[in-house]
Amino acid sequence: MAKKPVQFRLNGDEKAAFVDDGQNLLDVLRRGVGDLTPKYGCGQGTCGTCTVLIDGEPRLSCLTLAETVDGHAVTTVAGLADGATLHPLQDAFMCHFAAQCGYCTPGMLIAAKALLDRNPRPTREDVVEAISGNICRCTGYEAIINAILDAANAASGSSYARG
Ligand code: FES
Ligand code: FES
Repeated sequence: MAKKPVQFRLNGDEKAAFVDDGQNLLDVLRRGVGDLTPKYGCGQGTCGTCTVLIDGEPRLSCLTLAETVDGHAVTTVAGLADGATLHPLQDAFMCHFAAQCGYCTPGMLIAAKALLDRNPRPTREDVVEAISGNICRCTGYEAIINAILDAANAASGSSYARG
């Protein structure tokens, strides 16, 4: 099967890969360029743990054809921290114990970042809607919702501008 060359920016770094027809972005991220932070959950677009940003928009990488990111920017959880300094959302998730097994956490954080980037002062309902495509089997969602609201509140007076 012929492979296609694809180049994209991953968390600020240029990446190149050869992809198969129909190969999904999640597979290329994990096996092609070695970013293991987006997780494989359902592979069918129903759990959200594979969520990444493509040009700033949240997308399910298990349903995204890898060839479509050619020339575009992809952000995963690996790109949220600024060196050793965690992103405010990551800090808030830790403070609120918003991760247990952590399998949903990469997708939750990316969905939350997309929300705060477009709406820095979300209501609780906004947060619930923003993570409605992300399934968590552990936390009951309250800690996650509180963490996202806390990060938004902290940012309204300070520093939610990174990442
Ligand atoms: S692995 Fe992509 S939505 Fe579940
Ligand atoms: S923390 Fe386990 S699935 Fe969400």
